[in-house]
Amino acid sequence: MHHFAYRDGALFAEDVDLREIAEKVGTPVYVYSSATIERHYRLYEQAMASITPGRKPHVFYAMKANSNLGVLKTLAALGAGADTVSEGEIRKALAAGFPPERIVFSGVGKSEGELAFAVEAGIYQVNIESESELDLLSRVGERLGRRQEAVFRVNPDIGAGGHAKITTGSSANKFGVSFEDVHRLYARAANMAGVRIMGLAVHIGSQIRETGAFEAAYAKMRDLVLALREEGHRVDRLDLGGGLGIPYEVPRDFDHGPGLIEAYAGMVGKLTAGLDVELGFEPGRLIVGNAGILLTRVLHLNPRPTKQFLVVDAAMNDLMRPAMYEAYHEIWPVAEPAPGTAAVAYDVVGPICESGDTFTTGRELPQQKPGDLIAFMTAGAYGASMSSTYNQRLLVAEVLVKGDQFAVTRPRQSYEELIGTDRSPPWLS
Ligand code: LLP
Repeated sequence: MHHFAYRDGALFAEDVDLREIAEKVGTPVYVYSSATIERHYRLYEQAMASITPGRKPHVFYAMKANSNLGVLKTLAALGAGADTVSEGEIRKALAAGFPPERIVFSGVGKSEGELAFAVEAGIYQVNIESESELDLLSRVGERLGRRQEAVFRVNPDIGAGGHAKITTGSSANKFGVSFEDVHRLYARAANMAGVRIMGLAVHIGSQIRETGAFEAAYAKMRDLVLALREEGHRVDRLDLGGGLGIPYEVPRDFDHGPGLIEAYAGMVGKLTAGLDVELGFEPGRLIVGNAGILLTRVLHLNPRPTKQFLVVDAAMNDLMRPAMYEAYHEIWPVAEPAPGTAAVAYDVVGPICESGDTFTTGRELPQQKPGDLIAFMTAGAYGASMSSTYNQRLLVAEVLVKGDQFAVTRPRQSYEELIGTDRSPPWLS
């Protein structure tokens, strides 16, 4: 469920008319709904709390999905933690008010500088992905006089996900240490002064819409926890990653309840029963995915003998998912179509100079004209956070709505910011 709906003939975000945002902020612009973010966070947190009686589950929001300051502050205020993957993300999480003891640091390529920053900041946990990283982290910890708490991210050789490019858990993927290696690494780490291993982590992919692959991977993790304990190791934490998917193709009146979250929680509860570990989770898309839309204006219609191009002012640099993963996003016109309005099949494209800048082909929409507003739905996750300035287009603006208020939480980049940060080489200046 989300809080974008038609009211008095126009699409609203909560109690704000999207036409007003388009007029005041311009387009393209991302619009996020606080109520939707809150709803999804609470649903998720409560479902996981129900399987960890007596303990609070650690929900580390994967901020790569949407790192807008307003979105981060909303989640920090709800008590969420943050899953980060770079020094920039750690800095931004801290700036948004996530306390260091609720921050985890994941990723296959952490540099010495980034690890030192994380250790000095006093973050909760580093998710180690290789032996080389283990050595580096311990050296950094020792140098700083700290013993950094960490877990090993294990590659379970069970991959899943909505697209090959977002599958991470297969042994062909670059992520994590192998099941075989983790025993030896645990033993080695026991003698290291700069790191304290607290347990294990796993993340198998993204946009996964059924529980089967998670179940297979988590069953392997359970066995691994027990085997490591047999060897005398301490395994107090199990970070189960993110990856639960969301419905992108939904009819306008579809009410999707918390079915998948509950099924997932039930499965996790069963598999971790009696294991006596602190559970952690890293959801991203599920929290923010359908809490955001990309609002764009029709620039031109370009009819051809066999098709009709609808050229809008958003492009692949603003929303990369269709070009990169053939991703589907619903398109809703901002003006509510009158019943019986004739539909036209459009190829919806952006202004960028390559054919990949296509959001969809042959999509039936009510007849459009230049100046009309349309919304790409379910664009709250991996939308603005993957945007760029390709074609020297300005970084897209972002707006957060709460009830009848809205605020620009990232103004559109200016041309001064776009051009003014480049430097001329001395031999050309
Ligand atoms: N934890 C780790 C270690 C991850 O790598 C990811 C996502 C997450 C958690 C959060 O996964 P989620 O709950 O959002 O599925 N840009 C792609 C998705 C890339 C996901 C990368 N890792 C897309 O637009 O579909």
